Amino acid sequence: MPMEHIFRYADRVYRHLNDEGLLLGSVSREGRFNFMTVGWGFLGVMWRMPCFIVAVRPSRYTYRLIEDTGVFTVNILPKGMEGIASYCGSVSGRERDKLSDLKIKASKGVKVDAPIIQDCPIIYECVVRYKFRLERDRIPRDILTTIYPSDDLHTLYLGEIVYTRIDESRVDLL
Ligand SMILES: Cc1cc2nc3c(=O)[nH]c(=O)nc-3n(C[C@H](O)[C@H](O)[C@H](O)COP(=O)(O)O)c2cc1C
Repeated sequence: MPMEHIFRYADRVYRHLNDEGLLLGSVSREGRFNFMTVGWGFLGVMWRMPCFIVAVRPSRYTYRLIEDTGVFTVNILPKGMEGIASYCGSVSGRERDKLSDLKIKASKGVKVDAPIIQDCPIIYECVVRYKFRLERDRIPRDILTTIYPSDDLHTLYLGEIVYTRIDESRVDLL
């Protein structure tokens, strides 16, 4: 897959990441879909592979799903759908079925079993190729006290981007 395709519109992807967040799609072993909002992550290259790194705290339901199935998707929402990001960023799939609450349609990815939201102009499908849990003694003290008061240290999942969908007719909606 040509790299430039993955990085096309990267400025918009990063703007959303830093704003309302991106939707991280995951799936249980039984095939149940879930989405959570992520604000921290990286689109880049590792081992000559295009990749997306997401940071997920172990307390998230999504953490369990990615641990179990090793796949995820990153969905960039168009303007006007910011409410979905705030809901998926404040409610857990452990307690609620967010998709049916929000009445949004999701389907299985093209290359992975994790879900995608068709209305999203940009979607990355990823397979986890490496993961690492942040280590307490390597984190600056001020970050520990502000970001990790309860020890819920992120695990970073490096996902190889195995499929990218860019809907050129809808990128202006980003
Ligand atoms: C804008 C925004 C960005 C967020 N970014 C992250 C993130 O990068 N990593 C994380 O673990 N949680 C993040 N969260 C919190 C999760 O989205 C939230 O806890 C969610 O309810 C977890 O859903 P789940 O339990 O269904 O996985 C963010 C929330 C918001 C609103």
